Amino acid sequence: MKFCKFIYKFIMKVVETVKELRQALSGEKNRGKTVGFVPTMGALHRGHLSLVQRCKKECGVAVVSIFVNPTQFNDRGDLARYPRTLAADVQLLQVAGCDVAFAPSEKEVYPEPDVRVFDFGQLDKVMEGAHRPGHFNGVAQVVSRLFDLVKPDYAYFGEKDFQQLAVVGEMVRQLRLPVKLVRCPIVREADGLALSSRNALLTPEQRAAAPLIAKTLFAAVDMVCSADLAALKRFVADAINASEQLQLEYFEVVCASTLQPVASLDDDCAKQACIAVRVGKVRLIDNVRLS
Ligand code: PAF
Repeated sequence: MKFCKFIYKFIMKVVETVKELRQALSGEKNRGKTVGFVPTMGALHRGHLSLVQRCKKECGVAVVSIFVNPTQFNDRGDLARYPRTLAADVQLLQVAGCDVAFAPSEKEVYPEPDVRVFDFGQLDKVMEGAHRPGHFNGVAQVVSRLFDLVKPDYAYFGEKDFQQLAVVGEMVRQLRLPVKLVRCPIVREADGLALSSRNALLTPEQRAAAPLIAKTLFAAVDMVCSADLAALKRFVADAINASEQLQLEYFEVVCASTLQPVASLDDDCAKQACIAVRVGKVRLIDNVRLS
């Protein structure tokens, strides 16, 4: 870390404390620059870097946080296993055009335990919210805290975490935060697998099986005019569970704005198909617009 800090001192600022972050940003804000922000948990891949590049293109100063937020993990094993690659992340951020990388400790983000409980109505009662109790409360805690520290004009989020975007949007609305959320498309490997930091945890056999998730979603898109909802769900469950490496956790077709499951494929709303699959101990999610 010290080595990276030395190397990039004159190019990209790497800061670890709130005080350093404020110092790094005060000059930029005084010069009237718009502040763009990309919150991450590190283990950066091309998906993250596409957010950073867009942020840099659209804003005067690009800030990226790297913080593995413990309050959003409902599974201690998942938190312990989460990949941590700070030195490599810092190098990638430099190349992507980041101006300030903020890599705080837990104490810096949470000087006192965050006991806030958010109410997102039905938005977080389905899919990830239902399968990972407390997850979105933790996401809202850390994102609101980071927004408070960085005070961005724009914040960039990937659509792979489709439900997270809806929940953060609702949090911004409820807290009346002066930040505009920018939705960015999913970035995929050539074989279709959605980029995720968790992909790094897959064994070669699991990695070879994982593209079936996207392939099945794309096949579901092709079926949408000729199948009903029950047939679509059966098709997806059978296709995923046919692989020895994969186990379907859920597949839902939801209304893209409310995230509530549709009763029929004829429901009059933009529909998103969302999936979570267990690949050994790793959990992968993906989604696609159905119609
Ligand atoms: O999407 C993520 O990586 C995390 O949920 C986020 C938004 C950085 C909050 O910890």
